[in-house]
Amino acid sequence: MGTNTDRVDEGEMSAIDDGSLIVVSNRQPYTHTYEDGEGSEESDADREMSVNRPAGGLTAGLDPVLQRTDGTWIAWGDGDADREVTDADGTVRMPPEDPSYTLQRVWLTDQEVEEYYYGYSNRVLWPLCHGGVWKTDFAEQHWQQYQSVNRKFAESVIEQANADSLVWFQDYHFALAPRMVREEVPDAFYMHFWHITWPGWDTFRACPQDQELLEGLLGNDLLGFHVERYCENFIDCVEETLEDAFVDRDRNRIHYADHTTVIRAFPMGIDADSIQRASKSVGTDFWDEFKGKYDISAGTVALGVDRLDYTKGITERLTALESFWETHPEWRGELTYVQKANESRSLIPEYQDLQQDVTEAIEQINNRFGTEEWTPVVYLTDFLPQEELSGLYRFSDIMLVSAVRDGMNLVAKEYVAAQVEDDGVLVLSDQTGAYEELGENSLVINPYDTDEFVETIDAALSMSTEERAERMAVLREQVETYDLVTWMEDVFGTGEELRAAADADSTDVA
Ligand code: G6P
Repeated sequence: MGTNTDRVDEGEMSAIDDGSLIVVSNRQPYTHTYEDGEGSEESDADREMSVNRPAGGLTAGLDPVLQRTDGTWIAWGDGDADREVTDADGTVRMPPEDPSYTLQRVWLTDQEVEEYYYGYSNRVLWPLCHGGVWKTDFAEQHWQQYQSVNRKFAESVIEQANADSLVWFQDYHFALAPRMVREEVPDAFYMHFWHITWPGWDTFRACPQDQELLEGLLGNDLLGFHVERYCENFIDCVEETLEDAFVDRDRNRIHYADHTTVIRAFPMGIDADSIQRASKSVGTDFWDEFKGKYDISAGTVALGVDRLDYTKGITERLTALESFWETHPEWRGELTYVQKANESRSLIPEYQDLQQDVTEAIEQINNRFGTEEWTPVVYLTDFLPQEELSGLYRFSDIMLVSAVRDGMNLVAKEYVAAQVEDDGVLVLSDQTGAYEELGENSLVINPYDTDEFVETIDAALSMSTEERAERMAVLREQVETYDLVTWMEDVFGTGEELRAAADADSTDVA
């Protein structure tokens, strides 16, 4: 099997092979930072800088597509050295070793970051879409700034776009931009992928800006979600909110303000091939060394890998683990749980609270059950290169994914891809998008049902080698077949079809 870059190079994405692709995301694919950190006394031009690449996911997956198509990627320039390498318009050719597409950086003031990113994006839309209305902060200035930053990104797209452009917006940071751009460049093709859940109407109706958000998103020609249920939720919200919308449920189409948007589910995949290669590149000596370094002494390892976010169900998982060691004393000293965690959005109080809750829960378990020889929970916040993370996945006996709500949960898929010996067990929350695809061959939990969770951990640990292998082989096949490249082909292919159909219609009319 070739790499994803090869597959992109082989021309499997011919639809966008002409420099017309414009991607818009909040996070950028490359960040330039000064190596000496903040407060240096040297002049900026004399300071050493480094380029950081994304650690996987969409940004890494789209990078080869942009390289091949010489498109434009518009994103927030959040690195402290980003301006050093861009021209007066904020553009820089990327990637550094083989410049082949344009990264257009958009500069945000501290206040914009505070109110658009930390505010409306992550204290309104994030909790709202995950069903946590009580965690939202609908402050007016958040909304004002969300509108003006969407306008800023929209202006940047408008400058680059023409009737041939294919514009692809990413995620909840840009609900308003599609309509803003369409009003100026009506003939380009607009797609949007919403990477998180879309809530039911009864939750969404709490949002004072429900109408504006829906109208903004209906500026797209194609709007994608991970699973069918989110599409249905979105359509319900439109039916309840926008009186003038015409909804064709059979064909998942919404006609509003002289324009039709197609709503479609595209369950996102991962770069399974590169995880598998990374996983195969490490052996048991890596694992022995890793266990020594992080004080993992038990013979059996359970794993959790999460961004430190309250949607991931980390405290629910720790509660279940504590109860597990309490009720299954035979596993004390025999099972270590490794929690790999990445700090995230730490300026938001709810995230600070979560970080503290996780630290305290781990201390409590370790104080209660730990011995000189055995630490029950190993908390790992170090950055891990892809080989090490894949190795950790590969050698962990069971994986616990207990998100209380999650659009997809790509970590579940990464664990599966790394199981090159088909000997792991995936314990998966039924509150994730991944459950729709992987639920049948995982052990499924409701993260709020602690007793069931405890029994499921026990079942996962006692599963026979044969059953593990049978289940994992099916899961791995699924994750390898519908991977990141297939997902992108599906999105672009659907876009191309719709665009061709729209062109044919307009020719007929003419
Ligand atoms: C989720 C979102 C992404 C976001 C990522 C990391 O996966 O869907 O859009 O980039 O979290 O969050 P951050 O706020 O650090 O970009």
